[in-house]
This record gives sequence, C-alpha cells and structure tokens, in this order.
Amino acid sequence: MSFKKITTIDIDYFIQILGTEKVLTDDENRSRCASDHTEDFHFKPELVLQAETAEEIAAILSYCNEQNIPVTPRGAGTGLSGGALPLFGGVSLDMRRMNKIIHLDTENFQVTVEPGMITEVLQNAVKEKGLFYPPDPASKGSCFIGGNIAENSGGPRAVKYGVVKDYVLNLEVVMPNGDIMWTGANVLKNATGYNLTQLIVGSEGTLCVVTKIVLRLIPAVQNDLLLLVPFRNAGEACKAVNAICMAGITPSALEFMERDALECAIQYYQSSAVTLPDDIQAHLLIELDGNYLEQLYKEAEKIAEIVAQYDIDEILFADTAEQKQSLWKLRRIVGEAVKGNSMYKEEDTVVPRAELPQLLECVKLIGKKYGFKSVCYGHAGDGNLHVNIVKGDMSDDDWNNTLPIGIREIFTEVVKLGGTISGEHGIGLVQKSYLDIAFSQQQLALMQSIKYLFDPKGILNPGKIFVA
Ligand code: LAC
Ligand code: ZN
Repeated sequence: MSFKKITTIDIDYFIQILGTEKVLTDDENRSRCASDHTEDFHFKPELVLQAETAEEIAAILSYCNEQNIPVTPRGAGTGLSGGALPLFGGVSLDMRRMNKIIHLDTENFQVTVEPGMITEVLQNAVKEKGLFYPPDPASKGSCFIGGNIAENSGGPRAVKYGVVKDYVLNLEVVMPNGDIMWTGANVLKNATGYNLTQLIVGSEGTLCVVTKIVLRLIPAVQNDLLLLVPFRNAGEACKAVNAICMAGITPSALEFMERDALECAIQYYQSSAVTLPDDIQAHLLIELDGNYLEQLYKEAEKIAEIVAQYDIDEILFADTAEQKQSLWKLRRIVGEAVKGNSMYKEEDTVVPRAELPQLLECVKLIGKKYGFKSVCYGHAGDGNLHVNIVKGDMSDDDWNNTLPIGIREIFTEVVKLGGTISGEHGIGLVQKSYLDIAFSQQQLALMQSIKYLFDPKGILNPGKIFVA
C-alpha cells in the first residue's frame, strides 16, 4: 500500500474546512494518537483532525480519498487489537468532539448518540430516565461508544444481555467518497433487504465512519447481588460455569479469573477487598440482577448449592455497594494490571460455553509445550476466555518466533472446539495473520470484496483485518 504524504497544502485545506483548533500538527497530539492499549505499538499519524459534524467528516474523507491520504478513525484508544493505530501515518480522525446525546426517546426506549461519547456517561444519562444500556466493556469509564461499535465490544453483562450489536438499530455513516447515509431504520424489527447496520458493527473503521448511532434501550433493573466463589481447581471453576447455566439460571455476569489474574489486580490497587489463600487456583465472580430481590436470593442459594459440589473455599457475598464496587474494580483492571507486570499479548479466544474447560486445558498444555506462561480470565458465561501471554523471562527470539507458532496452535484448537479467534476485541493489526484459521480463502475473498465496494482506494484504516 502506498499513500501520499501530507503537505502544507493539505493542512491549509483542512484548516479552511475545520478551523485551526481542530487541525492538530503538534507532537503531543500526534503521539497521543500513535498508540492505543494494544501492547506497546507506536505509529505516529502525520496529522490529527477533530471533526464535529458528519459534514466535516464528509469533506475530510472525500478530500483524502481524492488525494490518496490514509484516514484512521480513533475513539478513546482503549482497543486491544490495534484498530486505532495509524499504520501508514496520514490522518488520525479523532472523534472526541462528537460526544453528545442527540435525542433520548423515552417513549420508544431509544437513544441517538454521537460516537465520541464515553460509554459509561451514556449509561448514566439513560439511567436517569429509568433506562438501561447494558453493554459494559471493562474500559467503560473511558472507552467511546463509537469504538465499541467498531469492535462489536462485549463485557461482563453480555452473558445475559448480549453485546453491542444486539443494541444497534441504525447508524449514520460517511462513506470514503464523502456520501452521508443511514444504514437502516429506528425499529426493533427489520426484514428489509441486506442488514447494512450489522455489517458496519464490528467492521473496525475499515468501511465507513460512523457519525450517529441509534441504540435500543431496556427498562432499568432495580437490584443486583454479587458473589465471589474461590475454587481450588481452575478446571472445576470452568465446569461450574456450565452447571450454573444448565440449572436454568442466567446471571448478569459470570466471570472467571485465574489466581494470577486476581493477584495482579489486587497488587495493582493494593486492595484488601479479597484475601487469596495459597490453595486457591481460580475464582468465579457471579452477578445476578432483576427487580425482585427475593428471587435473586433464591438464585444465589441455588448457585451456592451448585458450586458446593466442587472443591471450593468460602463464598464471599458482597453486601454493600462499596464492596461490590471494589470487586468489580479488581475484575475490570486485570488486563491493565497484567500488562503493568510484563510485556504481554492479549488473545481473545471464544468457544461454545460447555467447551471452556477443554479450552483452558489446551491453552495450558500448549503453553507448556512452547515455554510460555499465560494468565487467563474473562467472560466465562460466554465461553470467552482472555488469554494474556506474559513475556516474563522468555527470550526475544522465542517471543518473536516461537510464540506465534504456539498462538496459531491455540487458535487452531479453538476453531476445532467450535469457537473463533476473537470474541470482543477484534482482529485489527494483531490478529490479522491468524484470520486464515477462522475463515477459508473463499470467505476472506468475499469480505475483501465488501471492503473494496465501500472503500475502493483503501484509504480507511489500511492494514487492518486483512493481511494484504
Ligand atoms: C476485559 C477486557 C480485556 O474483559 O476485555 O477485561
Ligand atoms: Zn473482556
């Protein structure tokens, strides 16, 4: 891929359409947009543009398309597959100024929002009106809703409420040639032609730029309970996940944390919320939510009976809002805490839920075979296991050359188990060389044809998803 370098003539053009304050050439902003939360990558854009309207984005894209300048859309930069990294320089399209709720429709339970709004800010705003937007990625306090759409994010509540795609009704998008269009309609049912809306969700900023989002909401839920169950055997913790679901209980979160995952998080916060006896290998963090507290207590009792069949220590019931918050804080920081300890690679494996014990076992076996250590945690109720591979004392040569063979073996097993290579983090830069494990050449060619139809010159987020 070869692109034009940005010149002063281009910069003058952008200043003309956006004004000086939204055209950023300084090193600080370019460095900020050079990285996201993926490993320690650094690809500096030549220019950062902060648009405020779809029309401004249309002007930027049609110009860049004509001039052959690459454009990489950027949310809050919390992504874990490198989606926001401007691999070929060019423009980093920073969406932070587009951060408003345009319309909260309390009669139809819908909200129209701009992509640069922080997910938790949106959740709190709809909650004030008695409504609920459930998808809650670990980074909900800083990630943008637009980034969540780009990656089709999930989070702990997906086990009961589904992921981002299950809430997106309609999108306003700008095409690389500058055309602005809506992808669907603001309706709960839609059997009208191809589903363009869902094609855009999870397309990682490679097809078009999303400028407005219509989300479905549900009525707010009144109560929740939180339990932390310590297991002496990590495989049994995975087995218990399915036993809980098979008993007809659908928790609003069913999270698995290997000992090392929780230990890292405890150290990170110097937290005293949980004690970690030497013989504990893993925990399940289980949340139940609903409007009737009595029903939730009954379900919690049932869960206690189920997990008692395994080798567990005493269950911690979080009694107060503070205690619940500290447990969730620990769970949400695991990824960052592990990263703080060592160089690492984050894999986002997902299998049908009942295969989770086999997945964990095969990750550990392959780790032994290739000499790497992994810290596993994640959304067990969805069969979604985050595998953080830590470099520790692995040699650079093994890290760069042997590890990818091991990862390939893990992904091959995942696919054999009926799963796939990313549940909620996306392919982006870091998983693209493994995409052939999940898809045949024919499937890949079909996807690349779609990319070509949307973006024939390949200016939007180049170098992502596909190897070439
Ligand atoms: C989490 C992120 C890494 O679940 O997806 O913590
Ligand atoms: Zn996750």
